[in-house]
Amino acid sequence: MPDDSGSGLSRRQVLAASGTGLIAATAGPTSAPAPAPTPGRAVNSRHRADHHGDGTPEQIHLTWGDDPARSVVVSWASPAPAVRPRVRIGQRVIPAEERTYTDGLSGATVWTYHARVLGLRPGATYGYAVTADNDGNRADPFSATFTTAPEGRAAFRFTSFGDLATPNTAWVLSYGQSAYAVGAVESFQPLFHLLNGDLCYADLNPLSQPEVWRDFGNNNQASAAYRPWMPVPGNHEIEFGNGPQGLLSYLTRYTLPSNGTPGLEGRWYCFRIGSVLFVSLSADDVVHQDAGAFVAGPNALTPAPSTGNQALAAGASFYVHGYSGGAQTRWLEATLATARRDASIDWIVAQMHQCACSSSRDGNGSDLGIREEWLPLFDRYEVDLVLCGHDHSYERSFPVRGFDIAAGTDALTGAAVDTRRPHPMTTVDSGVFDTSQGTVHLILGCGGTDDNLDVFGARDNGVVQAKVFTRANRPTLTATQGVFDRPEADAVEDATWSARRDTSTGYGIAVFDVNPGTEAGGQTSITVTHYHAVGADPVNPLSGEPGAPTDDYTVFETFTLVRPRSDGRRWHAKQSTSVVA
Ligand SMILES: [Fe+2]
Repeated sequence: MPDDSGSGLSRRQVLAASGTGLIAATAGPTSAPAPAPTPGRAVNSRHRADHHGDGTPEQIHLTWGDDPARSVVVSWASPAPAVRPRVRIGQRVIPAEERTYTDGLSGATVWTYHARVLGLRPGATYGYAVTADNDGNRADPFSATFTTAPEGRAAFRFTSFGDLATPNTAWVLSYGQSAYAVGAVESFQPLFHLLNGDLCYADLNPLSQPEVWRDFGNNNQASAAYRPWMPVPGNHEIEFGNGPQGLLSYLTRYTLPSNGTPGLEGRWYCFRIGSVLFVSLSADDVVHQDAGAFVAGPNALTPAPSTGNQALAAGASFYVHGYSGGAQTRWLEATLATARRDASIDWIVAQMHQCACSSSRDGNGSDLGIREEWLPLFDRYEVDLVLCGHDHSYERSFPVRGFDIAAGTDALTGAAVDTRRPHPMTTVDSGVFDTSQGTVHLILGCGGTDDNLDVFGARDNGVVQAKVFTRANRPTLTATQGVFDRPEADAVEDATWSARRDTSTGYGIAVFDVNPGTEAGGQTSITVTHYHAVGADPVNPLSGEPGAPTDDYTVFETFTLVRPRSDGRRWHAKQSTSVVA
């Protein structure tokens, strides 16, 4: 989401402010919006079961285990503690681990369950069922199928978007497109889906966070119970009262591959499918922008008395920059170095929420923190593709390597600012890009949230211009008594790296088809097709007319990434170089 910055009168800022502070201050737990009907038998069964003892599985979703060719994790929640929660797969019955948390604002307790299914065969399809002794559907429990990852160099498909929200429009930033987006994933039948952060904006509904997560989980179940959905945390997963980085809800609900970092598990991770290493990062650790939970004011945000938590004053924000103390970047470098020494790994795809290369005008823009901390590593180890969310739009960069120094200016004064502008290795939009020569960045914050952004920055002469955060935009008082906001990005630059932008809608899904190639030392490719949902627009920014969600996803563009296979080539570390603009 645009993350609540700026002091203008735009609709998104009014929404953001009302969601973070103004509503929060006036709505008690009993006045939270009524939950919308959610699909699936699990939810219907709630009417039949005793609420206090209802262990009916809901919000069922899969993630990869540590080895996606041989393991998956089945996770779910239930309205009350489940008795003997378990997964049945073939003749095996696998007990689930219970993990709970108590929301630090509403005081509601959430029960989640996680069953690690190990010892599977690569590239095989399995049926499974989820149940418990107090499952309202025990006679006919929820069942689904999944397919494990192939082993070795193999063709496969994955999909991606971020910024999904829920279909329950009672919640701030939720919109009906969220349901169609889940349907779109299913329509493409990928092996798995990457969900690039800002999952449901629970933090913008601060006294109803677990209910928002529930609606998100039940919406996703239509796809995520059938194929793994692999998330990264975004700024809206940072919730007041929920742990040192505010990620307690996220971490409780997802079981993700180990990163081997005690105390910081679940926040970042990697997994491997065929010849591709996927690296999922927690960009809030490195970005300058302050966009986590926020109390705009004028009233304080008062947690439910049962939490024992103190009221949060107007102007409070949850800023976690640097939370890993460098551990994530050290892990990233070690992970990338190991991958590039491995002749069986061709591709490295990084997934994070915030953007190094976004020219969104009404959204957040780019962040120097990612450019400083991680782009030199992406250069050195030839990361091929970076998938982001955060800005609710579609944008593609040219392959970039190194950076142009002194290419930015202060947004207010016009003074020179070094934004470390990523340097395009070509500006010819040929449709085929060799990513061994530069990294392609995609903005895919186009999942389903009620705030599509399809307007991009431009100078008077038409040159594409990007906003860049080069320092923290901590909350400042506005002209309205007691009300705070967080300023927009402090710098701008000509976005010479920006290759393609979708100005017709902020909704879409990217589909990636990996072709491993046919011979050692030959070429491998990933064909990328971005589909967009034209016309899906809560309010047309030009006409002001309300639009409607749509399930009609059509092709916006197709392009191909190529690189030499690693099994016929000695790899040498590249240097990240600067170029005077
Ligand atoms: Fe975001």
